Amino acid sequence: MSDSDLLPNLRMCFHKHYAKLEISKKYALVATTSDNPLHFNLCKSTQDILSIAHFELSCVPGCTSAVIFSGAYVGLSLRRAGLGKTLHKLRLDACREAGYTLALCTVNKDNAPQNKIMDSFGWICGREFDTSPTSKARLWYKIL
Ligand SMILES: CC(C)(COP(=O)(O)OP(=O)(O)OC[C@H]1O[C@@H](n2cnc3c(N)ncnc32)[C@H](O)[C@@H]1OP(=O)(O)O)[C@@H](O)C(=O)NCCC(=O)NCCS
Repeated sequence: MSDSDLLPNLRMCFHKHYAKLEISKKYALVATTSDNPLHFNLCKSTQDILSIAHFELSCVPGCTSAVIFSGAYVGLSLRRAGLGKTLHKLRLDACREAGYTLALCTVNKDNAPQNKIMDSFGWICGREFDTSPTSKARLWYKIL
């Protein structure tokens, strides 16, 4: 199966899992790209261009079983209310159903909330690496 076969399936899985969530009554999940990477925005409506949260997913070139999580963001006024975890679980559920078996992600070492999310969803911290002479990031992976 190629990347282009997997992406429409992945979008479909997102919308299916999103429809089951309580927040789907309040916000719309909009996919703003149809190609790799896929961008998802949580908006007040499908017509709204201002997102209140977003995330991206990329297929790994040459490995259709692996997906990269990136760009997770929750608007400042909505933080610390569980939305980050809700959207993270949505990504895991949708990617699993779409047929991915490995997820990869890098997170800055000092990003407490995102590292907490990775830990609480059972991601494995592979190792730390330098992102500049003074900062480090963690490479996380998870078998889906
Ligand atoms: C990371 C981010 C998406 C989390 O969103 P959120 O909606 O605030 O997350 P949640 O409310 O689900 O909280 C997740 C966990 O982090 C904890 N947390 C949240 N903010 C925190 C903070 N500033 N310091 C320490 N822990 C924090 C929460 O208590 C929760 O832990 P718990 O499960 O033990 O209760 C959000 O902080 C954000 O958009 N940050 C800027 C962008 C970013 O760094 N993205 C990640 C790129 S890899």
